[in-house]
Amino acid sequence: MSDINKIFATLLCTVAARPSFSYLENHFAPENESVKVRSAAIKRLLEVFGMEDPPAIHGHKQPPQYMLDLYNTVADVDGVTKDPYLLEGNTVRSFFDKMRSEQVEFRFNLSTVARTEKILTAELHLFKLRPQASLPISRHHFCQVSVFQLLDMAKINNTQQKKLLSSRLMPVHSAGWEVFTITQAVRSWMADDGSNLGLHVVVRTLGGSQMDMKHIRFASGRSHHQSKQPMLVLFTDDGRHSTALERTATSSLLQVPMSGPSSRSARSLESSEEEGVSMSCQRLPLYVDFEEIGWSGWIVSPRGYNAYHCKGSCSFPLGQNMRPTNHATVQSIINALKLIKGIEMPCCVPDKLFSINLLYFDDDENVVLKQYNDMVAGSCGCH
Ligand SMILES: *[C@@H]1O[C@H](CO)[C@@H](O)[C@H](O)[C@H]1NC(C)=O
Ligand SMILES: *[C@@H]1O[C@H](CO)[C@@H](O)[C@H](O)[C@H]1NC(C)=O
Ligand SMILES: *[C@@H]1O[C@H](CO)[C@@H](O)[C@H](O)[C@H]1NC(C)=O
Repeated sequence: MSDINKIFATLLCTVAARPSFSYLENHFAPENESVKVRSAAIKRLLEVFGMEDPPAIHGHKQPPQYMLDLYNTVADVDGVTKDPYLLEGNTVRSFFDKMRSEQVEFRFNLSTVARTEKILTAELHLFKLRPQASLPISRHHFCQVSVFQLLDMAKINNTQQKKLLSSRLMPVHSAGWEVFTITQAVRSWMADDGSNLGLHVVVRTLGGSQMDMKHIRFASGRSHHQSKQPMLVLFTDDGRHSTALERTATSSLLQVPMSGPSSRSARSLESSEEEGVSMSCQRLPLYVDFEEIGWSGWIVSPRGYNAYHCKGSCSFPLGQNMRPTNHATVQSIINALKLIKGIEMPCCVPDKLFSINLLYFDDDENVVLKQYNDMVAGSCGCH
């Protein structure tokens, strides 16, 4: 069972039928001890999301379109991972250029990346602008754009001031995003903070002479819109691993036989439960609302998600729809026959778990996409 499900399991014991955080707030807040419990629970929930404190966000920022598109590619509206094999690692981080100089020099502050995070791929995203129309039409149709890593002369015994990372031909008259892979440079910056002196972009003609930057321009600095600013995108892995329960996501989520009731039958089930007739093990909704928890300031998407929960009895006989293990079947028989004292019925628990994705602002107001394993109960079974 994952951390979050442990938390909810604990909460559910006390909260009963309609679990939600507002319920927690209303019914626990007035008492002293419960305030402590609540803050401890929220702190623990933050840890599940890999944080010590909620990021402090000052005012509304617009997340980069690239990150929004990426989120919509990997996650459905509830944040559930569409295809677990789409992303190589489990984290994507975006950084804006902190220099914002009018030169073609960029520097990205990577202080929010944990030392333990494995850098899989690093990309420099530059927005190429159309050449200014007022300038005479160049006789060149292509140019060579090269990205260099600036080196610290004092630290290395080398006459070279910069190291070539990536170079490409591009049409002079094109406009739009250009992506350069600069993984090795970012790895070296992660190994030695002080070595991050930034990047330099040089544009040359095919003949090798330096081109006027008025012809070939990349959006940067204060004169260009935020949506076109140079961006560093890191694909990383934080080393958290999936359990064996995690399976291919949404497609199987839909195939899972839903013993879960419609809203009408949910009501009748609840009332029958009140009459003392226990329902059999099944998957029921459990909506985790980030706004109710007070996290809507730093989480961009989703607003919340359905974690589901497992509820009901695992009494003999266990049908196949209860997805019993052989062990659970035997235990339910021993329990029914009362052969041995103190043997309970098997437990109704998640037997398939899916990951969700969060798009959020970190402490440095960079936008991060992170995948969290084992967050959604895909199906329930008697175990
Ligand atoms: C909370 O606890 C403190 C001491 O631990 C006590 O003085 C205070 O009256 C309590 N407040 C409530 C609302 O129970
Ligand atoms: C990077 O950002 C951190 C946190 O915002 C800050 O403390 C640090 O001074 C920054 N480093 C540089 C080189 O700007
Ligand atoms: C570079 O190395 C050579 C030989 O190892 C040494 O003579 C020279 O002083 C070094 N230069 C610098 C700038 O460290």
